[in-house]
Amino acid sequence: MIKFKRSSIVSGSIFLFLLAGCAIKSTVNTNKANRATVTDQNLALTPPMGWNSWNAFGENVNEQVIRETADAMVKSGLKNAGFSYVVIDDIWQGGRDSSTGMLYANPKKFPSGIKALADYVHSKGLKFGIYSDAGTKTCGEMPGSYGYEKKDARLFAEWGIDFLKYDYCFCPDFVSANNDYKMAISRYKAMGDALKATGRPILFSICEWGPRSPWLWGKEVGGQMWRTSYDIHDIWDIPRNETSPIGILTSIDVMADLGRFSGPGGWNDPDMLVVGLSNTGFIKGGGCNDIEYRTQMSMWCMFSAPLMVGCDIRNMNEATKTIILNKDIIDIDQDSLGKQGYRVMRKDGLEAWKKPLSGNRIAIALFNRNSSDKTITASWKDLEMEAGTRYHVFDVWKHSTEGRADGNLSANLQPHECKVFVLSVSKT
Ligand code: GAL
Repeated sequence: MIKFKRSSIVSGSIFLFLLAGCAIKSTVNTNKANRATVTDQNLALTPPMGWNSWNAFGENVNEQVIRETADAMVKSGLKNAGFSYVVIDDIWQGGRDSSTGMLYANPKKFPSGIKALADYVHSKGLKFGIYSDAGTKTCGEMPGSYGYEKKDARLFAEWGIDFLKYDYCFCPDFVSANNDYKMAISRYKAMGDALKATGRPILFSICEWGPRSPWLWGKEVGGQMWRTSYDIHDIWDIPRNETSPIGILTSIDVMADLGRFSGPGGWNDPDMLVVGLSNTGFIKGGGCNDIEYRTQMSMWCMFSAPLMVGCDIRNMNEATKTIILNKDIIDIDQDSLGKQGYRVMRKDGLEAWKKPLSGNRIAIALFNRNSSDKTITASWKDLEMEAGTRYHVFDVWKHSTEGRADGNLSANLQPHECKVFVLSVSKT
């Protein structure tokens, strides 16, 4: 079926991407890449937050699911916490009309049509997103937007779309990256320009998966976020010889070197949250425990990553709600400086990550990759902090001030656990 066909195509391609990766050189002027217009930037001054249908529902998405999800966004408190986009991913399409060339929704899944659904989502004070592809077909083998960029962009604007996720399946070089990024740049630019030409602010989410370094050209083509890796699945780690799909740990490692490309107006996107899927979603993997889900949330916020929830939010359990609705960790994600956290210490499977925050504060994540309990101690030197400075330490998951620290930070960590602290200079 579609799912297997696509994943075999994509995973078969990874090896070729990796081989090509070493030879790839940027043909993009990165100064130019930073010259997005003020309007584009305003669409995502902080990392976008919302929900996407793919992880939980895949090809089974329909209008009832979307309406109930919009209701649940409000009822569960997600909307109040800042999650604003409701995005329908792939396989919403019915086809493309052969005489008019107009894309239409699958009438069985969306009997009221997309415009009515967008109106409903808007009536809840939320924003509405949709999915298409830069190739002839989407990854789920629905019609892609190649050659129809202007038509599709106008249609999306008429429907009231606020967010477009744009994939890269069925482009000529999608299986093996060429030694330049020209094809991807021109295809994403065609849609980026078409979206701009509609006059409607539509956030442009680039889903090229990373092999053509979209962090170098994502802003230049009008994007506000770009995927850094292949699809994340509901699993902590995937054996090293497999690169697609990936688990939480690999996504973290890919992000480690990309911090300088992310910031207000354009964000590195390590893919959606798998928090709360518990191996019940459309994308599988075996599931993670709540400590691992909490680590994903922690690290995504340390990264200033877009926070796109992927579980069925109509049925979240308490543990999932506690993770996703933690205002203190969300505040780190949404901090106005928009800096991506970076790894400052790595030893024996123990890591410390640092993220500068507004107001002269610093977020520190202490993280245990091991499968046994460990104690980590990071000195001010490890954390690249000035000797002698004394900080108030606030534990973001305990929601409490832990006292003061003046030389190191220490934590006992369970397997795969991550603790996050906000440090502010103490005068006393
Ligand atoms: C993949 C994409 C996923 C999902 C899927 C739909 O290429 O990375 O996030 O959108 O296609 O077919």
